Amino acid sequence: MTRAEELENRLKLLVNFGGVVSKETNLGKLLELIAEQVKAILGCDRCSVFILDRQTNELWAKVALGMQRTEIRVPYGKGIVGHVATSGQTLNIQDAYQDNRFTHEIDRLTGYRTRSILAVPLKNVGGHIIGVFEAMNKGGMPFNVDDEGILQLISSLAASGIENAQLYESLSKSQLETIYRLAVTAEYRDQQDTAVHLRHISEYSALIAQGLGLPEREAENLRYASPLHDIGKVGIADAILLKPGKLTPEEFEEMKKHTVYGAKILSNAESNLLQIACKVAGSHHEKFDGTGYPAGLKAEQIPIYARIVSVADVFDALCAQRVYKPKWDPEKAREYIMEEKGKAFDPAVVEAFDRVFVDILKMHAMSDGKTTIIPGITKELHRHSY
Ligand code: C2E
Ligand code: SIN
Ligand code: SIN
Ligand code: FE
Repeated sequence: MTRAEELENRLKLLVNFGGVVSKETNLGKLLELIAEQVKAILGCDRCSVFILDRQTNELWAKVALGMQRTEIRVPYGKGIVGHVATSGQTLNIQDAYQDNRFTHEIDRLTGYRTRSILAVPLKNVGGHIIGVFEAMNKGGMPFNVDDEGILQLISSLAASGIENAQLYESLSKSQLETIYRLAVTAEYRDQQDTAVHLRHISEYSALIAQGLGLPEREAENLRYASPLHDIGKVGIADAILLKPGKLTPEEFEEMKKHTVYGAKILSNAESNLLQIACKVAGSHHEKFDGTGYPAGLKAEQIPIYARIVSVADVFDALCAQRVYKPKWDPEKAREYIMEEKGKAFDPAVVEAFDRVFVDILKMHAMSDGKTTIIPGITKELHRHSY
């Protein structure tokens, strides 16, 4: 390839890069995507994107360790990356092992043999350094001046995408926390184990959504929105909500209003997440065959989010003790869900429930005892909100 051809080729990849990067809002996935693209554009073996953590003054990156990815952290100022982050200068190093700024720790950890390194600072629009790009081992050759220019260009394109994703992540975490707080407030009156119940609904709903093959984004939305399904219970009088026994028909009519109250509380929200929560709150007691409440909606008239949460909610309600009923064995609860396929529940949702049932059972078993271990983001929340 001539230099002109190579540049043209790279330009095409770069144009594509902008489009790809601007669409991904999940930070972890975005960083992986960027690393992949950089490897393709520069023809190098490895690319790490280090992000500056201002709270700990470290630069962190995810690196491949066998089939897994692990997070590594380098103190600000240490290593090649630290040098680039503090100086703001690009470093083009032919042989890392000849450079005394290079720390061998990551190679030692990963078993990788770094030879050449091209490291450029990652700057946001304001010119502040938010991290460092490191490209490594370009097929035998050192990185050249063209590579430097390209990586600097990529870095400026990537920076805004990374900042967006960071913002989005902090937003959805704080949204999630707010939601859990709201939901716990609404429900603590009628269940001692509100927090556990809400986490169950959250996890079960996300699992079923995944089992249905919904996009990961939708499953995440449901994970966050589903805990609000019964928020309308704040509007129900204690005498009804806490009644230790069967409700009279009049009392149950009153009870049914928790759906309408919930939808009203969550209506007119700006956030996509709260709009989904509104649909779930309003329609989680609708039944697939049209015999549910409050509106008697049928089949696809019921939002898919509500059809999913309905299964998660009933399964968890059955498996839990209530003031009006003892708890059921999970297997019996599962049979009940299967029996209601096409009646109360969407057949496709019931099938998805069945597909992920082992995972649901694991989740159920985990919090049936005294301690609750929930992986991922809910653990974070758990720490903050309860
Ligand atoms: P919940 O306790 O969270 O129950 C949610 C849903 O799970 C119920 O919606 C129902 O579909 C299902 N479910 C719960 N327990 C049983 C059960 O023993 N058998 C069967 N077949 N299904 C069950 P539903 O019926 O629309 O009730 C909505 C809410 O109304 C309940 O939420 C609960 O807060 C309240 N509620 C319903 N029935 C009674 C009752 O007899 N006494 C009292 N105190 N509250 C009740
Ligand atoms: C670096 O020094 O920039 C990275 C550290 C390493 O690869 O060991
Ligand atoms: C999310 O956490 O999924 C984003 C929140 C939103 O879309 O409003
Ligand atoms: Fe409900």
